[in-house]
Amino acid sequence: MIKKISKLKSFSKTIIAPADKSITQRAILFSSLAQLSTKTIISNALLGLDCLSTIECVRQLGANVAIDNAKNIVEVTAGSIKNATLNVGNSGTAMRLIMGALAGQKGYSFTIDGDSSIRKRPMARVSELLEKMGAKVILSNDKYAPISIQGTNLIGQNLTMPIASAQVKSAVLLAGLFAKGTTSITEPTKSRDHTERLLQYFDVPVEISGNTAKITQAIIKPKNTHIVGDISSAAFSLVLAACIKNAKVLVKNVGLNPTRCGILDVLNQIGASVSVQNVRHDYESFGDIKLEYNSNLLPFCIQGDIVVRLIDEIPILATLACFIKGTSIIKDASELKVKESNRIDTVFDMLSAMGADIEKTTDGMVIHGTGKLAGGAKINTNGDHRIAMAAAVTGAASDSGVEIVGAECANVSYPKFYDMFN
Ligand code: S3P
Repeated sequence: MIKKISKLKSFSKTIIAPADKSITQRAILFSSLAQLSTKTIISNALLGLDCLSTIECVRQLGANVAIDNAKNIVEVTAGSIKNATLNVGNSGTAMRLIMGALAGQKGYSFTIDGDSSIRKRPMARVSELLEKMGAKVILSNDKYAPISIQGTNLIGQNLTMPIASAQVKSAVLLAGLFAKGTTSITEPTKSRDHTERLLQYFDVPVEISGNTAKITQAIIKPKNTHIVGDISSAAFSLVLAACIKNAKVLVKNVGLNPTRCGILDVLNQIGASVSVQNVRHDYESFGDIKLEYNSNLLPFCIQGDIVVRLIDEIPILATLACFIKGTSIIKDASELKVKESNRIDTVFDMLSAMGADIEKTTDGMVIHGTGKLAGGAKINTNGDHRIAMAAAVTGAASDSGVEIVGAECANVSYPKFYDMFN
């Protein structure tokens, strides 16, 4: 699909944040792993493509899943595990978490594959840790999907990860749920902790101490779960309002998990008129974020520990940097190279085509912002949802709009994304 986005002269909206992709996928997977016939209702579920892939996978593994598209409700009934051939589509979260969940299913065999992007993403970071617990995982060329897993008895270990990754951490914790003894996983910086929170909410004792999470064999006792909004999706409308003169936006019900809120720190640091209101607390905190345009934003430097707290927002923060006068720097972000696309390359290609003065570095980018962009380019998304959405926002804030080729991939995380421009 080709989508044309024209320059927006004004932007003033109240938006309900679409549900969180990471949490929806976890709620589906964890409830499918409960005792036979346990029923869980997931309300305000995201029904984007990644979540639909996760649903299809748990169905193949034996769960029964009913979807109410009109009400965004997913009802998962846990089944008995069975041998399965799984397709995760574009979803790294589904692939890595499911690897962990299946490694300890003794006597069963599984294959997991996905689209052409998934087949390029590193999977040894998961299998190498699972193998230390005794898992039998075979990767294609020792690195990639398709993957085959022979379920076996696992033994808990104390493991450390060289790179902070919630997907890898979650895979180990899920493997630990089915392993003998205790499993602990330590990461260099704390990545998003949705797995720990949701497992605890589902009655699984997960002990947290600093950057270490510890788990022992347990039965998941799911509760009906309401999914909070996704700050990574909210980021697009917040940045749009920050780039268009006199714009304002109120994004409601946004998840405020501190391990995901790096973008709010950046917006505050650069002097954006942003405020968080109506904060509520559940298994995850959430609230409403208001942002009003102001013309005095300062350039920023993103580096070190904050990177993991805003990694998915870097494409749209790179757009923001173009609309701020001065040089903004993004570094320590080489993980961008192994996302749905190589986002150092795809962000560079997208913004330079729109007229930005941007340099690529080995672990990020440097953007010499002028406060405006010419736009008018045709951008190929490379199948990456966040590039499609960043291109749309960039086009709407630029002088001559944008044409997005392959725009439909926004459905991966934000099915109603383009409504924002109506
Ligand atoms: C995710 C974790 C992050 C993030 C991804 C979703 C998750 O990936 O980039 O979009 O749901 O756990 P890594 O674990 O690879 O950092």
